[in-house]
Amino acid sequence: EKGGYEHFMLKEIYEQPDTIFDCLRGRLLPQTGQIIMSGVDNHIDALKNAQRILIVACGTSWHAGLIAEYQIEELCRIPVEVEYASEFRYRNPVINKGDVIIAISQSGETADTLVALESAKEKGAFIFGVVNAVGSSIARLSHAGAYTHAGPEIGVASTKAFTGQLAVLIMMALKIGYAKGTIEESRYLSLMKELEAVPEKVKEILADTSNIQRIAKKYKDASDFLFLGRGYNFPVALEGALKLKEISYIHAEGYPAAEMKHGPIALVDDKLPVVFVATKDSYYEKIVSNVQEIKARKGMVIAVATTNDNIIPGMADDVMFVPDTDEVIAPLLSTIPLQLLSYYVGLAKGLDVDKPRNLAKSVTVE
Ligand code: M6R
Repeated sequence: EKGGYEHFMLKEIYEQPDTIFDCLRGRLLPQTGQIIMSGVDNHIDALKNAQRILIVACGTSWHAGLIAEYQIEELCRIPVEVEYASEFRYRNPVINKGDVIIAISQSGETADTLVALESAKEKGAFIFGVVNAVGSSIARLSHAGAYTHAGPEIGVASTKAFTGQLAVLIMMALKIGYAKGTIEESRYLSLMKELEAVPEKVKEILADTSNIQRIAKKYKDASDFLFLGRGYNFPVALEGALKLKEISYIHAEGYPAAEMKHGPIALVDDKLPVVFVATKDSYYEKIVSNVQEIKARKGMVIAVATTNDNIIPGMADDVMFVPDTDEVIAPLLSTIPLQLLSYYVGLAKGLDVDKPRNLAKSVTVE
């Protein structure tokens, strides 16, 4: 059942070239310039005319929502708010006519999310579900939706469901932006091509993980980790920290890299590994100076960098490379080494990576 892999988590990480491909298949058609998603097509007016989009989710799915916020605001020019379902439910949120709620959930059974959606539905919100489990409660409650097609996810840590969510959400942003006219045709087509290339690029990252295994062993006894990123890679940093906490029980925090100087930099010393998600994008020069700030304080820097980068590798203590892509798509690649890093740290510590203590795969209590 684990397909020859030692753990479900590793199997699910390795399935991603196929699960992302399955998610895109029949939907993303760069040759004709179309993206076919019936849930979006049937409600395109509600989506493109939305005054506001609210994204409601928990955990890793909430991180996917943060990435979608950046994508939708850039490509569709619609204001987006990303809400923890548990907070959204209990703080009597403002929901106006014309608001669209995007619910993101792997299991489709997360109680916090489900209850939040039920009350929003009563208030008249239009609910679009981005769900992995077919026929689940959240899928049934939604007015429309798009499945992520990642297949059953058994490992408690979400991996392939997360990249499936990212694939669906970027296709939605591209579709809505194109219908609205807020994205130029050439950019629309080039992003489609970049997205189509993702499964092969994920395969490249997975082809040789010996360097990541070495890094995992080197840092496995650290008591804390910081994860930093900017822009599209900021939520990737949050997700990297969550994954490491879950799998290795090492305390980890994610921050936008520029927030360091507002407090967390006080933590930096020669024992603190700082993971920078620092691929080549429009924030690149800024993040290079953030790396310098950490090195100047003797922090140990582990960077996720773009393959052809010749600056960051000279500054970082250790580097995990990912292929180049458009920054809007980058999280689909930059998250992969971080999944592997937590897996191999957990493994090196001899922990039960598929069933970390205190955690359930599907959190069906509020
Ligand atoms: O099934 P859901 O996507 O609604 O689950 C949400 C969270 O409980 C889930 O992402 C959790 O944070 C995972 N353990 C993360 O790896």
